[in-house]
Amino acid sequence: MSQRRLFVTTALPYANGNFHIGHMMEYIQADIWVRFQRMQGHAVNFVCADDTHGAPIMIAAEKAGKTPQQFVADIAAGRSQYLDGFHIGFDNWHSTDAPENHALAQQIYRDLRDLSADQGGTLIERKTIEQFFDLEKNMFLPDRFIKGECPKCGAKDQYGDNCENCGAVYAPTDLKNPYSGLSGATPVLKHAEHFFFKLSDPRCVEFLQDWTQNGTHLQPEVANKVKEWFSVRSNPDGTTSEGLGDWDISRDAPYFGIEIPDAPGKYFYVWLDAPIGYLASLKNLLDKRGESFDDYIASPDVEQYHFIGKDIVTFHTLFWPAILKFSGRKTPDKVFVHGFLTVNNGEKMSKSRGTGLDPLKYLKLGMNPEWLRYYLAAKLNGRNEDIDFNAEDFMARVNSDLVGKYINIASRAAGFISKRFEGKLGAVSADGQALLAQLQNGLAAIADLFDQRDYAKALRDAMALADRVNEYVDANKPWELAKKPDMDARLQDVCTTCIEAFRLLSTMLKPVLPQLAAQVESFLKIEPMTFNNAAKPLGAGHVIGSYTHLMQRVDEKML
Ligand code: 2FM
Ligand code: ZN
Repeated sequence: MSQRRLFVTTALPYANGNFHIGHMMEYIQADIWVRFQRMQGHAVNFVCADDTHGAPIMIAAEKAGKTPQQFVADIAAGRSQYLDGFHIGFDNWHSTDAPENHALAQQIYRDLRDLSADQGGTLIERKTIEQFFDLEKNMFLPDRFIKGECPKCGAKDQYGDNCENCGAVYAPTDLKNPYSGLSGATPVLKHAEHFFFKLSDPRCVEFLQDWTQNGTHLQPEVANKVKEWFSVRSNPDGTTSEGLGDWDISRDAPYFGIEIPDAPGKYFYVWLDAPIGYLASLKNLLDKRGESFDDYIASPDVEQYHFIGKDIVTFHTLFWPAILKFSGRKTPDKVFVHGFLTVNNGEKMSKSRGTGLDPLKYLKLGMNPEWLRYYLAAKLNGRNEDIDFNAEDFMARVNSDLVGKYINIASRAAGFISKRFEGKLGAVSADGQALLAQLQNGLAAIADLFDQRDYAKALRDAMALADRVNEYVDANKPWELAKKPDMDARLQDVCTTCIEAFRLLSTMLKPVLPQLAAQVESFLKIEPMTFNNAAKPLGAGHVIGSYTHLMQRVDEKML
């Protein structure tokens, strides 16, 4: 297969807090995929960045007594301990407040605004809307910063967009006795001119209907959900949704964001410039390497993939492809949507209930990051489904499967090879060959599962093969062979088979366990393992290094 060029991103995290375990799950999911593609010989640019703009970050910075720039820089400084800690190999980490993003966002906006009559005319429209304004703070209030009584059930202190008590969805202007969440003052209604991206334009609707429904870019369950957004329908709360509506892309000063060209005091809404941050981070990376971003991003052969959570599907399946398409740019090849991570049978993680899982605390306890990578991979199947973290299940998978089935194969065989045969592998006889053939045959199917992001099945299949190897060990009992006279050749044969099998299993697990794979490569004294070079046996006479224990079991106390 010829080398493909892939551009891969994960969602850009808001720069107003540390990573939680949900972030790590997405990064691990994407990192496994990227490592797999690289093992196949493909060239990948894997980037991310901090999502820095918007009212919540501006307000949090003010509360912390910092400028927004300083605030987001401090958050950015804390990122690498998580990413390095869990072996997430982004090629670049950037910021949506970086100059590349300002320039790209402004250019994309101009391209959408200046579409000629031949092209169907502009896709940017100005409309005057009514919005709550905080006279004390002298700013328009975002929905989340207006509070009041629910117009339906009367519950107090509800947000401007929906009621947490009865679930009603409404506009902030529907709230009874509204007050500013910032100052507590009663807000006044004020007119403001906003800029809209005309998502309801027939050009956009036609393009998006095809892009989302042609079976190429989205998982089927995601495409089905998106399909609903195109039709006029009545909502459970009695309101009607009108198909695709125009998208309000501007916010008034004061706002931490990117200035809209030729519109003093107007800024892009954070969600306009956030996905453009994918391109900005890529540009920053390619500039540093002296490569042309413009050539790369316009190349028809470059494939673009975004890993995201199910809460931000609208932005990535409607707005993002549409603004790329109509600004004359290439659209993403695929958007991969995952569900949420829940804990103990579907509960949302919560710090206050003590059911959160702090990734840094995990590392500080000395827990192996690859345990978590393995556990999450064993649950991820490539579909938009929630996955559940359960401590007992975690311990069982790591201790019984990873250590008990896989690591043990090496520990059971390597000692004899070192002590009795000076590290030299021997010939493999027919029964060993038959076993190794089963593993060889499994490689292609497992590679395919990684490509499809069905890591759960890939690992199940790998563990089923590890079971075969352990059956072989139990049937041949190298520890008994070692005690018998004249059984040296058989002992070397059985242990060589185990080492060859261990190498094949290690290849299958390498995208998930990169650090362990590096240790295995150095212990076996081999070139980096790939799915392609796995077919070639080490062969009789190959000398391996001495075995040191590769992975500990999870200690119950840690959990
Ligand atoms: O939901 C979020 O956390 C956003 N910060 C994701 C942005 S993804 C991309 F568009 F930048
Ligand atoms: Zn209510």
